[in-house]
Amino acid sequence: MLRCPSCLLLLWKPVTVSCGHSFCKPCLGGALPPRCPLCQERLKLLGVGTARCNVVLCGLLEKCVEREIRLAWLVAHVRDRLTRGDAEEALRMAQKGVELAPDASSLRLCRAEAFAALGQHQRALEDLDTVCKAEPGEHEGFFRKGKVLLKMGQRAEALMAWEHCLTLSPHFHPARREMEKILAEDAPQPCTAAAHPGVAHQGSTGPQVDEGSPVFPSSSPQVQDQEGEPADGRGDTEHGHGTATLSQPGRQQEPDTSAERQDRWLVDNEEETAAAKDTQPSLWELLSISDLECSLCIRMFFEPVTTPCGHTFCKECLERCLDHRPNCPLCKQSLREYLKDGNYSPTVLLQDIMLATFPAQLAQRRDLHQAEMAELSNLTNNIPIFVCTMSFPGIACPLHVFEPRYRLMIRRCQETGTRRFGMCIYEDGKSFADYGCMLEIRQIELLADGRSLVDTIGQRRFRVLSRGHRDGYNTADIEYLEDKKVAGEELQELQCLHESTYCLAQRFCEHGDLASRHVLMQHGPLPEKEEDIQVMPCGKGCSE
Ligand SMILES: *[C@@H]1O[C@H](CO)[C@@H](O)[C@H](O)[C@H]1NC(C)=O
Ligand SMILES: [Zn+2]
Ligand SMILES: [Zn+2]
Ligand SMILES: [Zn+2]
Ligand SMILES: [Zn+2]
Repeated sequence: MLRCPSCLLLLWKPVTVSCGHSFCKPCLGGALPPRCPLCQERLKLLGVGTARCNVVLCGLLEKCVEREIRLAWLVAHVRDRLTRGDAEEALRMAQKGVELAPDASSLRLCRAEAFAALGQHQRALEDLDTVCKAEPGEHEGFFRKGKVLLKMGQRAEALMAWEHCLTLSPHFHPARREMEKILAEDAPQPCTAAAHPGVAHQGSTGPQVDEGSPVFPSSSPQVQDQEGEPADGRGDTEHGHGTATLSQPGRQQEPDTSAERQDRWLVDNEEETAAAKDTQPSLWELLSISDLECSLCIRMFFEPVTTPCGHTFCKECLERCLDHRPNCPLCKQSLREYLKDGNYSPTVLLQDIMLATFPAQLAQRRDLHQAEMAELSNLTNNIPIFVCTMSFPGIACPLHVFEPRYRLMIRRCQETGTRRFGMCIYEDGKSFADYGCMLEIRQIELLADGRSLVDTIGQRRFRVLSRGHRDGYNTADIEYLEDKKVAGEELQELQCLHESTYCLAQRFCEHGDLASRHVLMQHGPLPEKEEDIQVMPCGKGCSE
């Protein structure tokens, strides 16, 4: 899971790009590629000069990768003994390694090699079978199996193992060369080599490029180190990563045909992939919930987003910070460009890690969020109140939202899907009036700095039953108002009042002075006079 989607090796100095995917920093090259290698989304640097490492992911890797480094170190020593011809000592070390980490294929492969060197082919074969079963998609086990089978004199089986190896990894030259060697000896069957499409097509291509070779040119680690990294105290361990497990991804691409160099490459590649593969079980043992906590709400991340400066927060927590000022709450780096872009893509890898390591806690966190959303969706209890202006059913009410508390309120109205809030005028001593009107959001124009122009229309009127607060804005428990129906003389009186009021309003609108022009611009033209003034008990133009 901690592999880089570009080089397929264990992530090294992971950078989370604007689409939410994470790659090794060297895999992205010195500057960002124009598009994400995984999802093809256009990438943006958003105000930071260079891509910054994801601090949380770096921390997680450091914790989890230690074991892999130790394993890789052990593998390196076993190989060292083997090349020096001390197979007995190599076997002893590999034996100990397999006992310590029975799931580590890299060590089992080593032990098989030691067995083979000591002529214990059957035991070597058993180890290789275990590896091939545990990693049916990896060519390495099959390649080694072929070599052992050949030593045991089982040519046909060896060829089958190598053919399988090439099916898994058609560009894997060592297997092709072994096959060609045998087939050259068995001259009477010349068509077997051509029968394998992978073999036939690979005849003229030079460099050994594995399937997962990096898409982008990598720069040297020294260059990367000179840039200011937000990750602290990683210096030594980084070198550890570099030398013990992770060779530079670009190294695989070196065109090189000499046999020794190929073997050298094989060893590196094997160690790297083994380290990457064995990470998952250790995630469970090594991570704690506190590694996956948002520094703003001190809870497990919910919809984690990573800023261009490499810091990660819950989306909601970060947005609330950005309501106040456009800077990272941790490092104070300007996030103006990030805010302007307004595309808070979740950090995919972090979500995957949380799901794999703490699924129950993640579900709990999601439930908590949903409960909060349900509470915020209630349209009679604790409804949000915007204290600003007089509004009426069916009449447009455009708003300029700039205060942090109202930015939060409007965002919540959208996230819950209610798209509604109460509007009341200010009243001395009460903070807001006893009566108000619900407003429905029709359209929002978000401005680059986080302010917004919100187009709303009046809905039902309400009476305030009690007042409260939530995160800085006012709330109220309310009841909706309905007009009492009247008849006879009362209705006639009402009709008269309606007529005269409409006449007054009409005259006002036709006057054309500054005040009337302003009202018409804000709320639109005067509505038609109604035939039946009592047809809508909740108010004219009200759809509910
Ligand atoms: C709103 O909250 C009140 C009090 O908690 C509850 O009785 C009512 O059912 C809720 N309404 C909705 C639609 O959830
Ligand atoms: Zn990579
Ligand atoms: Zn992407
Ligand atoms: Zn948070
Ligand atoms: Zn930051």
